[in-house]
Amino acid sequence: MSDKKIIAVVGATGAQGSGLVRAILADPASPFKPRALTRNVQSDKARALAAAGAEVVSADLDDPATLRRAFDGAYGAFCVTFFWDHFSPEKEFAEARSMAEAAKQTGIQHVIWSTLDDTRKFVPLSDDRMPTLQGKYKVPHFDAKGEADALFIQAGVPTTFLQTVFYWDNFIYFGAGPKRGPDGKLALVMPMGDSKLPGMASEDIGKCAYAIFKRGREFIGKTVGIAGEHLSGAEMAAKLSSAIGEQVTYQDVPPEVYRGFGFPGADDMGNMFQFKRDFNEAFRASRSVEFSRSLNPELQSFDEWLSRNGNRIPIEAPAS
Ligand SMILES: NC(=O)c1ccc[n+]([C@@H]2O[C@H](COP(=O)([O-])OP(=O)(O)OC[C@H]3O[C@@H](n4cnc5c(N)ncnc54)[C@H](OP(=O)(O)O)[C@@H]3O)[C@@H](O)[C@H]2O)c1
Repeated sequence: MSDKKIIAVVGATGAQGSGLVRAILADPASPFKPRALTRNVQSDKARALAAAGAEVVSADLDDPATLRRAFDGAYGAFCVTFFWDHFSPEKEFAEARSMAEAAKQTGIQHVIWSTLDDTRKFVPLSDDRMPTLQGKYKVPHFDAKGEADALFIQAGVPTTFLQTVFYWDNFIYFGAGPKRGPDGKLALVMPMGDSKLPGMASEDIGKCAYAIFKRGREFIGKTVGIAGEHLSGAEMAAKLSSAIGEQVTYQDVPPEVYRGFGFPGADDMGNMFQFKRDFNEAFRASRSVEFSRSLNPELQSFDEWLSRNGNRIPIEAPAS
């Protein structure tokens, strides 16, 4: 029987979790083996994880009993919530509570909680530079995660708080890629001014998390920020131009214009970019590329990510 310790991975079929599962499976000498949590063990992605060697178990963040079962017997747990599936910070908070409680009840020895900053520590609700959203948030998909850090502390669970960044994969899946303007030219539209945006390949989040688990107690109780590269909009546009083979121009827009773009979550994203622009020094300082590379020597730069993924970015054909 294997004496490898189990890491239960929430969101194992998703961007962050699958990177961790794959990182563990790719290391034959790993002290760990992954237990992949999914709501549907029969899905193609779940079956692919099983075929690759992961234990795949059924669990739903909204059903605490399934979480306890899935965490039972595990050494570690990677915990993440899924804001964009429901747009509810309260739901994220409740799900984080369920994970913290399940980790406590099952004696998990190391949780990695995939979190983000509570921006209200920088921009109090009384600060009207950006609107308050959903009643009590500035950046809903950040704030509830940051607020939920306390749940793991209160539960007394040994936790590393992993602060992530913008995935470059958003250019493929999240509609964040270059858009053709009325002039027919491609533009990367972000309200970031000249400030640099920390970003990374989403699969590198899992690789960094794997390194944190391997380093044992070193990062328990610590907040750890990661990034692949910090780039300005103009720098990203230049790199996208080379990768796509067509000129992409960076277009800075005021955050209030971005908030009005009308896609679901545009107000949240507009506030997020404004937060990252206005508190750029602190946001970047908390996410060191050098430190991330020390965790994960395979950390990709944007150019490296583009060389592998540039042809997957959907680009609207020019009008003929
Ligand atoms: N996009 C970005 O740039 C970015 C950057 C930093 C942080 N984030 C944060 O990352 C989080 C999402 O993580 P991700 O990108 O890894 O997710 P993802 O790729 O969207 O994957 C979501 C996975 O979560 C599982 N899932 C959804 N609801 C579940 C539930 N109720 N119970 C159990 N599993 C559930 C689904 O698996 P099954 O269908 O197999 O159950 C799905 O495969 C969000 O909260 C977002 O705010 C995103």
